[in-house]
Amino acid sequence: MQPAPVTKYRPFPPVDLPHRQWPGRTLSRAPLWCSVDLRDGNQALAQPMSVEEKLEYFDLLVKIGFKEIEVGFPSASSIEFDFCRRLIEEKHIPDDVAIQVLCQCREDLITRSLEALRGAKHAIFHLYNSTSPKQREYVFNASRADVVGIATRAVAFLKASMQPLVAAGTQLRLEYSPESFTSTELEFALEICEAVTDVWAPTVANKIILNLPATVEYATPNVHADQIEWMCTHLTRRDRTLVSLHTHNDRGTGVAATELALLAGADRVEGTLFGNGERTGNLDLVTVALNLYTHGIHPGLDFSDINGIREVYERCTKLEVPARLPYAGELVFTAFSGSHQDAIKKSLPHQQPGHPWDVLYIPIDPADIGRSYKAIIRINSQSGKGGVAYVLENAFGFTLPKPMHKEIGKIINDLADATGRELTPAEIHAAFRREYLERTAPVALEHFKTTERDSAVKCEARLVHDGVTHKLAAEGNGPIDAFVRALAATNLPKFEVLSYAEHSLGKGAEARAVSYIQVKTDRGLSLFGAGIDTNIELASIKAVVSALNRALAKH
Ligand code: KIV
Ligand code: ZN
Repeated sequence: MQPAPVTKYRPFPPVDLPHRQWPGRTLSRAPLWCSVDLRDGNQALAQPMSVEEKLEYFDLLVKIGFKEIEVGFPSASSIEFDFCRRLIEEKHIPDDVAIQVLCQCREDLITRSLEALRGAKHAIFHLYNSTSPKQREYVFNASRADVVGIATRAVAFLKASMQPLVAAGTQLRLEYSPESFTSTELEFALEICEAVTDVWAPTVANKIILNLPATVEYATPNVHADQIEWMCTHLTRRDRTLVSLHTHNDRGTGVAATELALLAGADRVEGTLFGNGERTGNLDLVTVALNLYTHGIHPGLDFSDINGIREVYERCTKLEVPARLPYAGELVFTAFSGSHQDAIKKSLPHQQPGHPWDVLYIPIDPADIGRSYKAIIRINSQSGKGGVAYVLENAFGFTLPKPMHKEIGKIINDLADATGRELTPAEIHAAFRREYLERTAPVALEHFKTTERDSAVKCEARLVHDGVTHKLAAEGNGPIDAFVRALAATNLPKFEVLSYAEHSLGKGAEARAVSYIQVKTDRGLSLFGAGIDTNIELASIKAVVSALNRALAKH
């Protein structure tokens, strides 16, 4: 990098718009959506989609609910032309969906594109030419008037040549893009859009689409919003115009730029699923749509099966959805940090069915987009006690008493530290069983029986401690009390019971009881034990033995 001062790059010039309105507005409705996956997205793939893949992808876009789909550049190659023909001839296009074709402002290409559209019910003819000063100077060596002439002549030619198509029943609309709009002088962008509109002569019923692309994203989103508001307020036939956005993501702010430009008055948004597209990509339509949804505005697109959509996308594009991509990424419903896990666990039970979604750290109910809570909490050495308890409860049904969370949390954290990686729920479960439920050494319980006498309980037990069998008996006010008294007569560590909890595990004939016991030894050590058995009494005695074995290990 150049050392400061940075002279190699310049700030992007702001728009002089002192009375801008967009900062004071909020979004209240969804825009019109147009998917450009099959054109802008496809042309950015190392291996463009085959016709079969494009057909599958088209069907996916229809299923999601797109009513405008840019299907390609039919005059550019036979594969693009053939795809458009197959869509029409094989009747893949529902009556309420318009296909859009991109075309440069050249007569031969316009003629070929119209051929590709023969038989379509609704079509959008998308003409574009580059308008920025640098494009005019370096690429086309053309004056402003030349560039306006290219666009207006193309529109006039289209208007004349489309008549047979229209007569045959195709409803054809025009979209015009001053390519590189955001790098074009605003007055010139307005001039060319007005000139194109003059020639096309749109009506309120058949509006012209003026698409104002951020072909390369150079500015901050507020500048983009200013540019769009400026256009929206200067176009003379705003009532006959749909202002369309087409952002790319070079600065990583394509979504923000689109959202602010919607506030600035735009009507329509072009983009791709998961943001595939040239360089850093096109706008990610999924994010903008679901951002609206999480503010209570239905986008009119259905992402209830985001995993299924992602599967088709990854197979057809051979790209992977990044793990952190909003809504769709593998890790976006996963909390690793202990404090986040704790807050999620505490806020989830407050969520009432039918009430606004209010779970901490998770801005959307994963179930709304076909994802599950299961993977929300994964455990590594940064995780806290709440996360471990959550996994044991939600994946394995153990509702540990609150004071036990800290103890098990530390055990699992130490294990994660030792392995140096994230632990799976199965590994956490196995560690819990090893530490508490499968503790049969150095003390193993061989036999336990109680008999009730008046209000007292008498217990008889047989223990093996380091290979030596001990027969014990004592009376107490319950089985645990009797057993603890019996143990007191041995040379095992003395302890008192601090707390006890139990619940059933599973249902019906398979149900078992799980008991948790907290003890404090005569050396001041406080710890838990746990036991499982089909017999609730035996589960609690096993929990005492588990605590005893853990105490012996620590002593
Ligand atoms: O990014 C762009 O400017 C385009 C145009 C063709 C609309 O894709
Ligand atoms: Zn583009």
